Amino acid sequence: MFKEKFREGIISAKQFDREDIEYILKKGKEMIKIKNSNLLQGKILATLFFEPSTRTRLSFESAMYRLGGNVIGFHSGDVSSIKKGESIADTIRTVENYSDCIVMRHSLEGAATMAAKFAKIPIINAGSGSGEHPTQALLDLLTITEELGSLDGLNIGLMGDLKYGRTVHSLSILLSNFDVNVYFISPTELRMRNRDKDFLQHREVKYKEITNYRKILNILDVLYMTRIQKERFVDTEEYEKIKDFYIFRHNDLNNTKDNFRLLHPLPRITEISPDVDSSEKAIYFKQTYYGIPMRKALLAELMAK
Ligand code: NCD
Repeated sequence: MFKEKFREGIISAKQFDREDIEYILKKGKEMIKIKNSNLLQGKILATLFFEPSTRTRLSFESAMYRLGGNVIGFHSGDVSSIKKGESIADTIRTVENYSDCIVMRHSLEGAATMAAKFAKIPIINAGSGSGEHPTQALLDLLTITEELGSLDGLNIGLMGDLKYGRTVHSLSILLSNFDVNVYFISPTELRMRNRDKDFLQHREVKYKEITNYRKILNILDVLYMTRIQKERFVDTEEYEKIKDFYIFRHNDLNNTKDNFRLLHPLPRITEISPDVDSSEKAIYFKQTYYGIPMRKALLAELMAK
């Protein structure tokens, strides 16, 4: 049972097998039809965002309100005891007394795992450094399945900052449960890290690493672009050199299949030119919508009776 298996929360995409993914996608799909309900009436969600966020925090909060629940929390611009030097463990052991579930984003890779160790209530990892962002990957799969029908058989390109981008780490892990061809497209400096590739090899995922996306654009069903993660670079000069490595332009769409779809977790900086936005193939704003039904489904699983 999903509820039982995930009672400590959602920390990593590695917790999910194909059956779990199919189950939660089905629940997400159902939530598309339910705008408002009182399923989580009386429940409180805490959102602790130590790093900036627009879509993740607001969609979790909106999803919670739409299910009749309430939200408390703080975000990076706020004043909380974190500023005084309080540890993650102490923050969690406090906030769990005030809420039924905690959604947390932090710059440390192991932050969510550590929080889950201390908490008696479910923790949802809303981004842990360069590590993972599992709920984003789940909403990405909901987007793809709603738009293209099924995952098996698709050619999927993940492009941009594959080294520091946490969304592509979680997404490639979830995709390893399906029969897909994955193309990792990045500058050599920003390739997937060995530990992530080892995991995929172990799962026998069919993947290729390339630099020039134009070589394979015509065979892709999905291209998932990401921004270069400026805040993770130790050397800002390195970032400056590489930041405009890829710019996807409107004429790139001419070489794509009719059912090609372009996704991006956002924020977009310069990697997709704004003239692409009006194409039906560009679905990154639709993708932001799917965050609501997917997060409603997850919150309902973790908190409803
Ligand atoms: C991503 C994140 O925070 O990891 N954004 C998001 O949650 N939609 C992607 C990013 O910041 O590049």
